[in-house]
Order: sequence, then structure tokens, then C-alpha cells
Amino acid sequence: MDIFRTASEIRSWSRSRKTAGRTVGFVPTMGALHEGHASLLVRASQVSDDVAISIYVNPTQFGPNEDFSKYPRTWESDLETAAKAGVKAVFAPGEEFYPKGYRTEVVVPQWNSVLEGEIRPGHFDGVTSVVTKLFHCVEPDFAVFGQKDAQQALLIRRMVRDLDFGLRLVVAPTVRESDGLAMSSRNRYLSESDRKRALVLSRALWASVAVWESGERDPGRILSAGESELAAQAPDSVDYFTLLDPDTLAVLDRGPALSKPAILVVAARYGTTRLIDNAVLGDVWG
Ligand code: PAF
Repeated sequence: MDIFRTASEIRSWSRSRKTAGRTVGFVPTMGALHEGHASLLVRASQVSDDVAISIYVNPTQFGPNEDFSKYPRTWESDLETAAKAGVKAVFAPGEEFYPKGYRTEVVVPQWNSVLEGEIRPGHFDGVTSVVTKLFHCVEPDFAVFGQKDAQQALLIRRMVRDLDFGLRLVVAPTVRESDGLAMSSRNRYLSESDRKRALVLSRALWASVAVWESGERDPGRILSAGESELAAQAPDSVDYFTLLDPDTLAVLDRGPALSKPAILVVAARYGTTRLIDNAVLGDVWG
């Protein structure tokens, strides 16, 4: 497994792979790799010949009240996870990734301020900008993102289509602990009792999914099943529990009956730890 620090190194690696007639799959990450990331690497190796991962804690997607310096950095174990998954190239740029005087941003207007974007202003602008840079460096044929960050995946899908990135985006299912908790690098910050309480998030999603599966299409009725679950073991606070239209990012909670796939999304807080989760109603990722 090769480790590259500069854009030109990873780009020549990728180009050499393609010259050899091979396809390149890419999984961008901020490190702190867990089984969820490992499953993205497996997915990438299923769709491409050679897999590259980036490990870069991107400062521009952290808000002023979000502690960039406290984001977990687990370099050695990340390398082990990547090697075990058969990754061929690790791209881990340093501070020089944003050159002095850096100004340019890639934004998906309006979509960048829905739900997660409203709560974390500027977050998605940081994500779409850094992912653009990473795509330019790695030049992948396939890029794999997790459904866990559904809004992120939707914005990147929009951006890839709008700006003709010429790569195939693959969205892989969320990996869960055996009790249903979606895997996340933030789970490590939950106390034992909050971790137990947080199981209500997936229970609430499944309750609403079950109502949708029974044929119900009224957004209010679908949501109220999950809301009752949430009320039974309320998180410290709920930022949102609602339905999103994956094609427009419109919030659908009071709208007409669903006539196409939608995403059920939840965000809640336990102390200072904020968790997000979601479930798809229908074939959202096509
Ligand atoms: O999902 C993440 O880990 C990050 O948002 C990403 C896509 C690697 C961009 O920094």
C-alpha cells in the first residue's frame, strides 16, 4: 500500500493505473476509520480494480463551535484498516492542501442550507469544495460514499451531475452495530447510558419505515409512528425527524402523499454529542 502526501503523487498513481487498463475506486474519509468505512472500501473494491482512500481532516467543514482539533486522529489503526481492506493507495495531504491565499469554493446553493446545512452553516460548502479537490487529485472512476451521511451524498451526487465530474457515484448502505446503532466516529463520545438511549433513533426510523411498508403514503402518518417512539425515550434534544425529497431536498413532512422514494432523516443530541441517522423509503440511490 502506497502513501502519498501530494496531489501530483496520487494523480500520477491514478493515471498509471488507468494506463495499465485498470479502474480506480475512491473512498474519501477523515480517518477514524470504523467498520462503516471498511464496508465502503469493500464496496469500492467490488466496483473497481484498484482502491484509493483519502485520510484528511478537512478544516473547512468544521464550524466555529465545532472542535476541529478534537476530531479523532487514529492514523496507525486507519492504515491497518485500509491495508486489511486491500487498499492500494492512501492519500493523506498535509496543511499545504489549502495553499496560501486559497479562496475558491464549490457550493450547491439552497441545498447547502437544508436541515444539516441549517444547523451547521457552511458545513456543506466545506464538504463539496474539499471533495472537488480530492476528485481532481485522485481522478477516480468510482467514488463511494456512505448512506449514513445521506444529505452529504445527495449534495455530492448533485454536484457530480451538475459539473460533469465523469465518475460514477456509489452510495453504500449504513453499517449498524448489532443493536441497530448506526456506526459513527462520534459514537465513542457517548456515555454507556446515552449509547443505550440512542438506540431509539434507529427504532424510530424502523417504526416509520414499517408504516410506509404497510402501504401508507401520508407523510404525517409515516412520521408520527417514529415520533411516538422518539417520545418514549426522548434524546436530550431532537434537531429534526422528517422526510426529504432526494431530488429537490424539499422537506416533505406536511406535504401531499408520497408518490416517489423519500429519505427519513433524524438528528438528535445526547449531551454534546450529536448523532444523525436515516432510512430510505424506496430506491433513492438508483
Ligand atoms: O464524510 C466525510 O468523512 C467527509 O465529509 C468527507 C467526504 C471525507 C469530506 O471531508
